[in-house]
Amino acid sequence: MINETVGIIGGTGWLGGSIAKAVLAKGLLSAANLVISNRSGNHPLAQQGACLVADNQDLVDRSDVVIIAVRPEHFASLNINATGKIVISLMAGIGAQTIAAQTSAAAVVRAMPNAAVEIGQSFTPWYCFAEVAATTKSLVQRLFECVGTAAEVQQEDFIDYLSALSGTGPAFPALLMTTLANQAMAAGIPCDIAQLAAKNVVVSSSQLLASHDAQHMIDALVAYRGVTAAALQAMIDGHFEEQVGRALQAGAAVARQGLQT
Ligand SMILES: NC(=O)c1ccc[n+]([C@@H]2O[C@H](COP(=O)([O-])OP(=O)(O)OC[C@H]3O[C@@H](n4cnc5c(N)ncnc54)[C@H](OP(=O)(O)O)[C@@H]3O)[C@@H](O)[C@H]2O)c1
Repeated sequence: MINETVGIIGGTGWLGGSIAKAVLAKGLLSAANLVISNRSGNHPLAQQGACLVADNQDLVDRSDVVIIAVRPEHFASLNINATGKIVISLMAGIGAQTIAAQTSAAAVVRAMPNAAVEIGQSFTPWYCFAEVAATTKSLVQRLFECVGTAAEVQQEDFIDYLSALSGTGPAFPALLMTTLANQAMAAGIPCDIAQLAAKNVVVSSSQLLASHDAQHMIDALVAYRGVTAAALQAMIDGHFEEQVGRALQAGAAVARQGLQT
């Protein structure tokens, strides 16, 4: 358990709420050391003892570490002074320099979790803007290990690129799953069977990759020189890798240019 008080602005949202629940469930923080804010009030987390406030400056004043978990378009209106505090931003597309200038924080960290924080399975790369104490880095790592795995990266641009990769969480698999099911239905497979088959591929069979190297898995299945080899070769011939590369660059470009409106 850590002694710092952590405030989460937007602490009842998808990411903020999941992180709030996880730090309590994993015992990283006591409820007395957790402050959350939103605009709409009333949230089950308040019944677990976390302090729910409406005034973001009040949250900042009570906290040692402030996590900003609002949508990027809401950042400009937060109007907080976090002098002397550590600010961790989860916002896509808002640079550390902007966050430092608008909050006056002593230290700014950008972190990019994904929606799997909800099930404790996110990967969260994080980046420290300027010099940050080793104790702060350790705290950041422990915070995000409450919702999965985490790693520090050394360039802020990596956060923008990874926003389009791991930050998208279930998005690529969801697209693959709907595409597989749609194609199977178009080929005449009944809808329920098509969806079961596609879900098995994306959600269940892929669990093997938790303990098997992906390239070895491809090599082993292609070695049969049969159905799988033909299917994967068609994807390779269709420039699958280049398409994925373009998708990642398109997302990263949006993250780099910023999402503030
Ligand atoms: N979701 C993802 O997969 C994902 C992945 C990577 C990064 N991110 C980043 O994470 C951030 C949060 O995303 P999310 O999906 O968790 O959004 P979300 O579910 O909409 O949560 C945002 C929260 O912020 C609160 N809020 C809005 N304005 C506020 C204000 N002025 N003061 C206090 N609270 C305020 C909202 O509650 P009220 O409406 O009650 O105020 C809401 O609970 C975004 O910046 C996004 O770029 C999200």
